[in-house]
Amino acid sequence: SKTRFLTGITPSGTPHLGNYVGAIRPAVQSSQRADVQSFYFLADYHALIKCADPARVQRSTLEIAATWLAAGLDPEQVMLYRQSDVPEITELCWLLTCVTGKGVLNRAHAYKASVDKNVAAGNDVDADVSAGLFMYPVLMAADILIFGANKVPVGRDQVQHLEMARDIASSFNHLYGELLVLPEVVIDENVATLPGLDGRKMSKSYNNTIPLFTPREQLRKLINGFTTDSRAPGEPKEVEGSALFQFYQAFASEAETEALRQRYAQGIAWGDAKQLVFERLDQEIAPMRARYESLMADPAQIEAVLRAGGERARALAAPFVRQLREAVGLRSLA
Ligand code: TYM
Repeated sequence: SKTRFLTGITPSGTPHLGNYVGAIRPAVQSSQRADVQSFYFLADYHALIKCADPARVQRSTLEIAATWLAAGLDPEQVMLYRQSDVPEITELCWLLTCVTGKGVLNRAHAYKASVDKNVAAGNDVDADVSAGLFMYPVLMAADILIFGANKVPVGRDQVQHLEMARDIASSFNHLYGELLVLPEVVIDENVATLPGLDGRKMSKSYNNTIPLFTPREQLRKLINGFTTDSRAPGEPKEVEGSALFQFYQAFASEAETEALRQRYAQGIAWGDAKQLVFERLDQEIAPMRARYESLMADPAQIEAVLRAGGERARALAAPFVRQLREAVGLRSLA
């Protein structure tokens, strides 16, 4: 049987270059392998945790679906769906909640970051923390476990969530039998974490994202804004700690990366390095950008693709959740 690849993106904003290199590009590549069955989705239940703006969730869902398609996913070959079109995911989430230690969730990075911020500000530890944020890793485990995914391509920031999904699956299996597959994380080491223009992780939370389909001239301007040191043209540059270099590495081949490393040592001017990075990036993105624009001109078509994908995904999920209901002692719905 085929290896199942699965990954999701939260539709709470416009897809950015970090989403592309961390999840979309590796997912599209693996979807073209004959030995792989792919599940790619829009994590709209997750979006509600951070985003109480219905119009934004809908707009972002459309944009991210169009992005998956523009990047080359064939919706006939893969499962492309909206998480909320498979409501069995929330049912599994409850079954998993009951076997998840609260202490495990206390240690989740996203939750801890909120707690630490509150403590530093002298507020109540849980001020402004929703139970949704706290439960986030369990919902994510349900996304993965419901389709028996073997491999989950993600950026480095999701590694802890994958570890938790494995722990939760093990607890469930220990109590009820070997019903859940333990998923493995897949990280592209040349990417791991794509930096933003300020050198920090590119992230919606840091407000330093570059939208994947930024118009060409605007993209050039943005790349020119990369933080660099004050070394003059001709002076050797350090690749270590250069966000511009790390960024290039996420897009370029090994040979191209090696060539830039040498030009750093030879003292390439920062302006020339930025121009090279822009050209490499634009070469990869331009054809996708054109496809994206024509897809976005026909939202009804995107919606139809999502609905069809949702029905196919649900047809797989529903019988599996019925099996799990029985395993834990609930009434069989069959
Ligand atoms: P989200 O929407 O924050 O990000 C989607 C994907 O993009 C990756 N990513 C990055 N990769 C490299 N460098 C960056 N700067 C960068 N920024 C974002 C993320 O690692 C992720 O792979 N919880 C998830 C969505 C989700 C999910 C799942 C993923 C829900 N259920 C099940 C996999 C399996 C999230 O919010 O990702």
